[in-house]
Amino acid sequence: MKNSLYFNIKVEEGIFEKIQNEQKTIGYYALPDQDIRHLEDYLEDFKAKNDFDAIKDIAIIGIGGSSLGPKAIFRALKGIRDFDKKLHFFESTDPASIRSTLNKIDIANAHFFVISKSGSTIETISVYKYVLAVLQAKEISLDYRFTFVTDDGSKLEAHAKSMPSFVLHIPVNVGGRFSVLSAAGLAPLLLAGVDIQRLLDGAREIKKSFFEDGYIKETLLKKATYYAKNSMHYNVNTLFAYSESLDYFTDWYVQLWGESLGKKQKQSSFNVGLTPIGLIGPKDQHSFLQLIVEGLRDKSVTVLKIENFDDKIKIPDITLPELESLDLMNGIAFCDLINMQADSTIEALLDKKDIPIDTITIKHIDEENIGKLIFYYELLTSLLGQMMNVNTYDQPGVEDGKKILEKKLIEEKRKRKYN
Ligand code: PA5
Repeated sequence: MKNSLYFNIKVEEGIFEKIQNEQKTIGYYALPDQDIRHLEDYLEDFKAKNDFDAIKDIAIIGIGGSSLGPKAIFRALKGIRDFDKKLHFFESTDPASIRSTLNKIDIANAHFFVISKSGSTIETISVYKYVLAVLQAKEISLDYRFTFVTDDGSKLEAHAKSMPSFVLHIPVNVGGRFSVLSAAGLAPLLLAGVDIQRLLDGAREIKKSFFEDGYIKETLLKKATYYAKNSMHYNVNTLFAYSESLDYFTDWYVQLWGESLGKKQKQSSFNVGLTPIGLIGPKDQHSFLQLIVEGLRDKSVTVLKIENFDDKIKIPDITLPELESLDLMNGIAFCDLINMQADSTIEALLDKKDIPIDTITIKHIDEENIGKLIFYYELLTSLLGQMMNVNTYDQPGVEDGKKILEKKLIEEKRKRKYN
């Protein structure tokens, strides 16, 4: 992975030490070094209790940090490899989405993950109840039909023990949106056939490069310093990924960035944040790019490129009547075209001189490189949280709506009781 910054700034002092210190209490930093034996044991146990080959559909019931990570990884890898099993995601209370996801699944031969760190998320438990009721109505055995991934000691774990099922834990000091490299992300990916060790290897390489004076240390410190120092001016960060297969990765980045950095500062009443936007090239060249090039100078841009696409299909050497002038792209491979488009966007933006830009290039899409990207963005988020003086790991802002919903549900229940 290469990260070229087209801006310069003196790194803020003391931040690296603060991040080093965070490692004592924040659990995600340790995930790349974990021993995956407990997950391999889980897989073995799973195979002993289920007809593994017959299972073609694996469904995740979860939301936010409990679904976006595995979704991003599976989506990226699906573009380059065929998987024997499909991963499905129930992330919404939208009835149409629940039904259509369920319709895609052969439920008698499916395995379901219920992933919730807290174990009490309304969306997740509501959908779980629905799926459970459908299975029961069809008299499908529930034995070892579910894997629950939650905090040790949560009510969901206690519930899981009421039936034959699998239970895995998210380490207590690993927050939801930083949990993709814990059992929350790794267990479903392992069942689907993803090489989870290579994901961790990629993450570990970035971790090593950052904490052991590699090139990532200087780059990330500079990038974070630049973003934090200019956060009032350039308060929108766009991640412009030139591959459709990274669309859910940008969703994951938006959640990580938004929920971690949009906060009231510690010991102050200032509200701060950097607005994350996920863009996909070349689609968004015909959309959002105009706003970057000529709109308010409030956006920084990271272009994410893939050096080698495995697919080498070409634009056919065909001359079309009246469209002879467009023969200039004949014979070009689409993978070269998309990268020429990315490079042209980069050059056009650099020409403006007042749009901060950097490029990340990965060699190709595979487990190792996705692991690198994940850990790179987690570290960048932690650095920014320190520099912007916020608590990166909580999310008090989403609690208000949850409390109001709870009141509404209590009121609704009361009304139904008396009707
Ligand atoms: O990052 C977070 O903590 C949140 O986005 C959570 O992942 C999300 O709210 C789901 O919570 P839970 O995993 O407890 O169901």
